[in-house]
Amino acid sequence: MVHYTELGFKNTREMFKKAMDGKYAIPAYNFNNMEQLQAIITACANTSSPVILQISKGARNYANETLLRYMGQGAIEMMKQMGKEVPVAMHLDHGDSYELCVSCIEYGFSSVMIDGSSLSYEENIALTTKVVEYAHQHDVSVEGELGVLAGIEDDVSSEVSHYTDPNDVEDFVNRTGVDSLAISIGTSHGAYKFKVGPGEEIPPLRFDILEEIEHRIPGFPIVLHGSSSVMPKYIKIINEYGGDMHGTAGVPEDQLRKATKSAVCKINIDSDGRLAMTAVIREFLAKNPSAFDPRQYLGPARTELIAMYEHKNKNVLGSAGKA
Ligand code: G3H
Ligand code: 13P
Ligand code: ZN
Repeated sequence: MVHYTELGFKNTREMFKKAMDGKYAIPAYNFNNMEQLQAIITACANTSSPVILQISKGARNYANETLLRYMGQGAIEMMKQMGKEVPVAMHLDHGDSYELCVSCIEYGFSSVMIDGSSLSYEENIALTTKVVEYAHQHDVSVEGELGVLAGIEDDVSSEVSHYTDPNDVEDFVNRTGVDSLAISIGTSHGAYKFKVGPGEEIPPLRFDILEEIEHRIPGFPIVLHGSSSVMPKYIKIINEYGGDMHGTAGVPEDQLRKATKSAVCKINIDSDGRLAMTAVIREFLAKNPSAFDPRQYLGPARTELIAMYEHKNKNVLGSAGKA
């Protein structure tokens, strides 16, 4: 067992309090490899933004849980060397069992999500409560989820979304003791959030449901998953250089900006990073067919990621300068 404070991580309590008061959202960016992690840390250090490093169960399986833990620790050391320290939480994204949450806490995570959204309401409460009881003994933050997002949530996938019912939220947070709540108001996971044909509009997020939830649990930190904007510039490059991604659309940035002014304190973004990397790598390899050194394409992909995360922090989440 290593406690997250020994690794230099923070839990999310203070981050969320400041974000709520300052009306901005903490970026929660996923990583699976070195270049993504370097980009997240560099962008957040450059913009003086607090950050939540997200690791999914899939990321743990892909990269190895021990290696990821040392990478997280290494990222803190790297940031210190840059001379720009910002608060960093290491968070389990979409934990699907008590055992996985315990394992992450033992590996030094400062925050875990227990995603019981596919369970019945009472089963979700029972599982989430059990995780909270363990996590709080170690001063680790817990995110729960109510409502179902369409798209893939690690191993759990759903064709349709079920909006969060505002009638449930007060009971859920009181009975479980969670520190934050992920809700479903029209976002979804992945690169195909909205199917929009020519001339069709992206349906707006359900701000009416968000307002009702805020009314029921005033001042309680809310989390938005599935918040990539599926930036058209990356889709265009991907399709120009051999890709095939059509009819895709994400959450418009102005809607996310609006959400940061509410109780939304954490915004999850993964797919935009995947798309940015893929666009740069596709273009590079198409233009340089004899190249074979991964640094030649992963380097520019990382540079693009840094620019994209800096843009999100400054212009979308409002977290720049808040470290
Ligand atoms: O919400 C899911 C995240 O984008 C993580 O995706 O399970 O493929 O690592 P993953
Ligand atoms: P996106 O697929 O929209 O990037 O959402 C990521 C997410 O919610 C991670 O938990
Ligand atoms: Zn998610």
